[in-house]
Amino acid sequence: MKVAVVGATGLVGTKMLQVLAERQFPVDELLPVASAKSVGKEVIFKDKPYKVVSMEDAIKAKPNVAIFSAGGSTSLEWAPKFAEAGITVIDNSSAWRMDPTKKLVVPEINADALTPADKIIANPNCSTIQMVVALNPLHKAYTIKRIVVSTYQSVTGTGVKAVTQLNNEREGKQGEMAYKYPIDLNAIPQIDVFLDNGYTKEEMKMVNETRKIMRDDSIRVTSTTVRIPVIGGHSEAVNVEFAKDFDLAEVRRLLTEAPGVEVTDDTANAVYPMPLTAHEKDEVFVGRIRRDASNPNTLNLWIVSDNLRKGAATNAVQIAEFLAGKGWL
Ligand SMILES: NC(=O)c1ccc[n+]([C@@H]2O[C@H](COP(=O)([O-])OP(=O)(O)OC[C@H]3O[C@@H](n4cnc5c(N)ncnc54)[C@H](OP(=O)(O)O)[C@@H]3O)[C@@H](O)[C@H]2O)c1
Repeated sequence: MKVAVVGATGLVGTKMLQVLAERQFPVDELLPVASAKSVGKEVIFKDKPYKVVSMEDAIKAKPNVAIFSAGGSTSLEWAPKFAEAGITVIDNSSAWRMDPTKKLVVPEINADALTPADKIIANPNCSTIQMVVALNPLHKAYTIKRIVVSTYQSVTGTGVKAVTQLNNEREGKQGEMAYKYPIDLNAIPQIDVFLDNGYTKEEMKMVNETRKIMRDDSIRVTSTTVRIPVIGGHSEAVNVEFAKDFDLAEVRRLLTEAPGVEVTDDTANAVYPMPLTAHEKDEVFVGRIRRDASNPNTLNLWIVSDNLRKGAATNAVQIAEFLAGKGWL
């Protein structure tokens, strides 16, 4: 199995190498790819150095799969070239997610939508993945009518530059800014660009991707996404209204049994999920499970996950594992 990791020098790409090794994905040959300025640099995989190669050389080497985390414009330009060469692309950017001809996959929910003909497969947005992993089993049981979500997102969701900005601010150093404003001691209510409807692009990703993954366009979603000075993962306060009423004990049971979910909810002992405890874990953690006292059939949840893992690298590797298991790579 030849595996190309495109964006191998970035935050997600580095995590991808770590997750491929940890999950023992059967990599016989690794092709790390990054921008022209990084060609020849070394990345480490399973304690061994590998030289970064160019896009052109990666295509010539004909890997079985190429996992892209190199930004939307790179994916738009290069994913079709890999696919034309017969290479299956799993893409972490937003480039292909809402393309009706491409599958948007969270393996716990809709891996069954994949076929051997899918050559460019989209990995959803990090904040969407963790929310739908927790909500899908509840949607099946009680039918979601409306989701109101507010996020508290880690700077690692922006990439290397943002982590550097936060560290520089903490050390009192001047440096390149990933955000328009200081992020330390701050909360920035803007993730990605503003759209004509007043929402940001990140907020609309949560609306549109949720419907596509859960295969239900009737679900109403409204989202406010906020960047905070945190490293370990994204947190989300989720208010969800169902068509049917629910029993709280059954909600807990459904979440406990849901693949990829871990219930962390013991308020008597101040136990709930936090980025510090979700960091470097693959699960989606759910706590603060309670009935919304202000509205019928409505539930409040607090959902936390490591955005670089289940929100990006782990989900992509799980897609690759599914394809390999089917013999489609
Ligand atoms: N961070 C997250 O939580 C998260 C979650 C889901 C999806 N994503 C998506 O994953 C992608 C990468 O995010 P990141 O946080 O890892 O960013 P990052 O740390 O800034 O890394 C970007 C990577 O892309 C490479 N790259 C940039 N331009 C390229 C080009 N023209 N050709 C080849 N490689 C190029 C960079 O290589 P150089 O080092 O050579 O510049 C680097 O390896 C983005 O599309 C992002 O939306 C991120």
